[in-house]
Amino acid sequence: MKLFVTNAQLLQQAKKEGYAIGAFNANNMEIVQAIIETAEEERAPVILQASQGAIQYAGVDYIAAMVRVAAEKATVPVALHLDHGTSFEQNIECIRAGFSSVMFDGSKLPLQENIAITKRVCDVAHIVGVSVEGELGQIPKSGENVTREQLEKMMANPAEAEEFVKKTGVDALAIAVGNVHGMKTQEAQIDIARIEKIRKLTDIPLVLHGASGIPDESVKKAIKAGICKINIDTELRKAFVRGISTVLKENPNEIDPRKILGKAKAEMKEAVREKIRLFGCNNKA
Ligand code: G3H
Ligand code: 13P
Ligand code: ZN
Repeated sequence: MKLFVTNAQLLQQAKKEGYAIGAFNANNMEIVQAIIETAEEERAPVILQASQGAIQYAGVDYIAAMVRVAAEKATVPVALHLDHGTSFEQNIECIRAGFSSVMFDGSKLPLQENIAITKRVCDVAHIVGVSVEGELGQIPKSGENVTREQLEKMMANPAEAEEFVKKTGVDALAIAVGNVHGMKTQEAQIDIARIEKIRKLTDIPLVLHGASGIPDESVKKAIKAGICKINIDTELRKAFVRGISTVLKENPNEIDPRKILGKAKAEMKEAVREKIRLFGCNNKA
C-alpha cells in the first residue's frame, strides 16, 4: 500500500460528504509534527503542502522525508502536496521526491498557456498516480493594495473554469473568488455565488486559498457551495510566532530552542485543531 493518499482521493470523499480537507503549509519539523499530531487527535484526513519558499528553505528531500516519517506514524490518511508550483520542472521534481499531489499554478499566464502546461503536468502525474491542482483567476497578496473593483476583475471566470477543467483533466481547481493570501485578520469578502456557479459547470473539487483571511461563516458557506480543500498558512505562522514570543517574554534568558519551539508547536496545534473542526473533516478518517 502507498504511504501517502492523493488529494484526489481525499477530495472526492469530501465532495461526496460535504466537508473540506485542511491543507496546511509545512516548513520545518515542528510544523509537520503540529499538523500531523493534531490531525491524528481529531481523526482527520490531512494534506501537508510545501510551497516553493518551503522547498527553498528546507530542501525538497527534507520536506518529503519529514512528512514521510510523520505519515508512517499516523493512522489517518495523509497527502503530501506541492503548493503553487509555477514551473513544469518543479512539479516533476516533486513527483520524483515522492509527493502524492502537485499544483501547477499558471494563474499569471494567459489562459491557453495555463491550460497547455497544466495538461502536460496532468498527463505525466496521472501516469504515476499523482493528482494535480490547477489555478484560475489571480489571488493577490495582502499589502498589494488591490481595490475591490480590481479584486473582482481578478476573479475566476466560470466559463473559463469549465473549459480549463475539460481541457486539462485536473483533479481539483483553485479559484480566485475575492480571497487574498497572507491576511492577518478575517476580513475577506468572497463571492459564494461564483463558487456555486463554477461547481455546477465543472463538477470537480474546488480549492480555497488564502483562507486565513476569510471569516468562519463565509468558510462554512464556501464549503456548502463546493469548496473541498482549504489552504491555511498565515494563521499557523501567527500561532507559531505567538508561542515563541510568549516564552521569550516570560523568560528573556531562555536559550533552549526546544523550550521555545515546543511552545510554538503547541500554539500551532490549537490553530490547526480550530480549522479542522471548522472545515468539518474531524472524525472523517
Ligand atoms: O500561498 C502561499 C503560502 O502561504 C506559502 O507562502 O511562499 O512564503 O512559503 P511562502
Ligand atoms: P494564507 O496564508 O492566507 O492562509 O494562504 C495559504 C495558502 O493559500 C497557501 O497556498
Ligand atoms: Zn495559496
